[in-house]
Amino acid sequence: MGIKFNEKEKQFHLFNSKISYVIGICLDGEIGQLYFGKRINENQVVLDYQSAGLRPLCCNVKEEENYTKELALLEYPAFGNGDFRDPAYEVLQENGSRVTNLVYDNYRIYDSKEGILGLPATYTNTDDEAQTLEIIAKDDEAGIEATLYYTIFRDYPVICRHVRIKNIGTKEFKIERALSCNLDIPDIDYEWMHFEGAWGRERSPITRDISHGITEIESMRGHSSANYNPFIILKKKNTDEFKGEAMGFSLVYSGNFVARAQADTFGKIRFSIGINPKWFSWPLAPQECFDTPEVIITYTQDGLNDLSQNLHKLMNNNLVRSCYKNKPRPILLNNWEATEMDFTEEKILNIARKGKEAGVELFVLDDGWFGARNDDYAGLGDWVVNTDKLPEGITGLSKKINDMGLKFGLWIEPEMTNEDSDMYRAHPDWVLAAPNRKRTLGRHQMVLDYSKPEVVDNLYEQLYKVISTASIDYIKWDMNRSITECFSQNHDAREQGTIYHKYILGVYSLYERLKAAFPNILFESCASGGARFDAGMLYYAPQAWTSDDTDGYERVKIQYGTSFGYPIASMGSHVSASPNLQTGRSMKIKDRANIAYFGTFGYELDLNEISEEDFAEVKEQIKFMKENRELFQYGTIYRLQSPFDHNIASWMVVSEDKKKAILTTYKKENVPNMGIEKVKLAGLNPDYQYTINGKAQMYGDYLMEAGISMSEKNKFWFESDGDHSSRIYILEA
Ligand code: GLA
Repeated sequence: MGIKFNEKEKQFHLFNSKISYVIGICLDGEIGQLYFGKRINENQVVLDYQSAGLRPLCCNVKEEENYTKELALLEYPAFGNGDFRDPAYEVLQENGSRVTNLVYDNYRIYDSKEGILGLPATYTNTDDEAQTLEIIAKDDEAGIEATLYYTIFRDYPVICRHVRIKNIGTKEFKIERALSCNLDIPDIDYEWMHFEGAWGRERSPITRDISHGITEIESMRGHSSANYNPFIILKKKNTDEFKGEAMGFSLVYSGNFVARAQADTFGKIRFSIGINPKWFSWPLAPQECFDTPEVIITYTQDGLNDLSQNLHKLMNNNLVRSCYKNKPRPILLNNWEATEMDFTEEKILNIARKGKEAGVELFVLDDGWFGARNDDYAGLGDWVVNTDKLPEGITGLSKKINDMGLKFGLWIEPEMTNEDSDMYRAHPDWVLAAPNRKRTLGRHQMVLDYSKPEVVDNLYEQLYKVISTASIDYIKWDMNRSITECFSQNHDAREQGTIYHKYILGVYSLYERLKAAFPNILFESCASGGARFDAGMLYYAPQAWTSDDTDGYERVKIQYGTSFGYPIASMGSHVSASPNLQTGRSMKIKDRANIAYFGTFGYELDLNEISEEDFAEVKEQIKFMKENRELFQYGTIYRLQSPFDHNIASWMVVSEDKKKAILTTYKKENVPNMGIEKVKLAGLNPDYQYTINGKAQMYGDYLMEAGISMSEKNKFWFESDGDHSSRIYILEA
């Protein structure tokens, strides 16, 4: 790994064993993109032929020069100077002009990387894990200094980028757009993959051609959203899970975002991602700075599994911060689907007791324990225990749960309030609401104005009191509605365009304070399930409730889709009751567990209410998970067959030494007289001989090249597994 600066040619070459990223200075001093892809010799001088030549209707930088921005590949393009594509930033100056031009000024190269104040970001554990390049560029006329940050990691084909904009002039200006990165690609022949959905069906992979014009996804909901995830893959048409070129872009941010590919008529793609510029306007006074969120950019020539595995490793090692980092996650039992808000202490203790008997390690009390919270019309904002339900408070309950030998966890939703709450009655101006307009409610609740420090302070104090006076090992931090009428009362007009971003900065700051005060707590983020499942959140909460949809079949799709961008250990996955609450579908407890193992694992039902036979199975499942959870949660995952394309979906996890692997297959529908179905395995050592479920012995190469058969000897077709059935295969070398 290294960053080489060729002084003469003014070229920066960032490289590690897998990738190269080359940046140059264009004729007019703007920062140019020269190469991004597989590692090339770092001494190569990269020549940018693209932008040379006089062309009709292109505007050249100087009349006599053979250089036009319209054909250039740029790193952080400006508006208004002959590049007619989207700019990466826009600055509205006092005189009303938006024309800017950033000219190279200076650079800095150093080991490791610095954090971004107030924002989540990847970090290094030791200084030699990464190197950082800062390129400083200036527009003296507008008084802008932009520092472009690039960090290359030693062990992963990853470059992290973000930008700091500083006002070095004497007048205030407004940043109206400041994306985290711009990547110009000299080739239009790519497909775009994004991950979309809605409540209950988050992160389905969608692939489409990048054709001329714009391909874009965004969120304007105030959170990253269940609808579109801030993670994009650009891939070549023939790239599949096992081979081919692809780039991944994961935005380390949880608020409004946009990801956009602009394919121009000269055969180039301009890709950009960052804070959504819609209704974003950030006044920057002289000497003030603005930092964009970070984006993780990864590149592979070895297919989508490799791309995902690299991201997983980076996130586990260099993004997640928790005492549970790279550690097995406790098997939990959550009461939400069992009781919703209708519980007494006795009922809770009964559920927890049965969980203990089954072997769970952590009991989580969900919504309904505070204020007047008996339904979702009241109570949010009042983080004081409801002693009608829990006479001895959270203090007493947590102690009783601990005495059973279980850890105790608690649900909170600190970003919201109900009209029927003491908080709202005392502080009606603490919610986001447009003056003299009707408020749009969501789940009967309003969003607190986290752009105001006093609101965040109040929540911190309330929560500190609850947590510090009880024994709490885990917090589920929920967020159950999107932002509407984004207007901050008591902020002046000039600042209203900052509120979406300040909101999310407020959320991050509360997380930061609670994490500092309670470093041993395991945080799980949640937003009506997976509506804020992003790399930004993982910096604060190492796991996230993947979806409110706990149906086994739906979870196959949701977890499969999520695995493209996020590690297995980050996915909250629980076995719930059958028929399922969200879909009404019935599935055997075995099949529900086989899916939930590939995640943090737990139960979301009253174990007192299942049959003795199922309960005996639950005990076995927990024992099995305890024996194998390091492999499930931190093994290398290979997606083998997609549930979106196949009746039989399949994936596997492989240990680092390749001596153990666990494969699962999931059949959606039983087919009479099924044809030959084989699943080809991946990631094994070709020369090892593996026993499969303690029986058959097969070589790794055979399992990967020929696959294993889905039909069982000595069984008639009608005896084979039914609809929505799964199998687990344990492979041991
Ligand atoms: C959201 C969460 C659920 C549960 C409920 C409680 O929907 O996603 O898991 O916590 O809120 O109100």
